[in-house]
Amino acid sequence: MFKLIAAIGKNRELGKNNNLIWHLPNDLTFFKGQTMNHPIIMGYKTYESLPKKLKGRQYILLTSKNIEEEDILVFHSKEEMLEKLDLSRDYFVIGGASIYQQFIDLCDELYLTEIDKEDSNADAFFPEFDKSMYERTVLDSNSDDGINYDHVLYRRLK
Ligand SMILES: NC(=O)c1ccc[n+]([C@@H]2O[C@H](COP(=O)([O-])OP(=O)(O)OC[C@H]3O[C@@H](n4cnc5c(N)ncnc54)[C@H](OP(=O)(O)O)[C@@H]3O)[C@@H](O)[C@H]2O)c1
Repeated sequence: MFKLIAAIGKNRELGKNNNLIWHLPNDLTFFKGQTMNHPIIMGYKTYESLPKKLKGRQYILLTSKNIEEEDILVFHSKEEMLEKLDLSRDYFVIGGASIYQQFIDLCDELYLTEIDKEDSNADAFFPEFDKSMYERTVLDSNSDDGINYDHVLYRRLK
């Protein structure tokens, strides 16, 4: 099963200048808890933007570049990736914008951190999606440095 995890602002803001917009330490703990021990699928820009290697998670990287790094599974197209992965396993799609756009329709569960903030300088956005196709559950509500956000699970209706 494909699952997706993202932190988004009120206008679906995801990032700017190839970085996250808001620093939310407790949300990073949530991200770690959800993704730990699962393979994580990401695009090259997100891979580049990560400040450190995320331990305990197999990296699956989509890029046109020829990257040879131990521990990283590299695919040059979505089709190649879907052909080679064991689809009986669970995978987490972790971004960025172009990867969410390509994979959201394959994902049965969306873990969204819905942040009660906006940023008019954002340059990467989560795709619009039809919320009526999902059951929405608020998992918890949080605040980091005065920024309020909810962890919300959207489970695709059968
Ligand atoms: N808020 C969040 O939860 C969250 C999560 C993740 C990322 N982000 C933010 O999102 C932004 C990055 O998003 P982005 O859309 O610019 O970049 P991205 O999706 O991370 O990476 C784009 C790159 O991935 C590769 N790629 C994408 N689709 C591919 C395909 N089908 N086949 C082969 N390669 C493929 C290409 O790399 P090559 O150019 O190497 O071919 C492409 O340039 C940053 O601001 C980041 O901080 C936010």
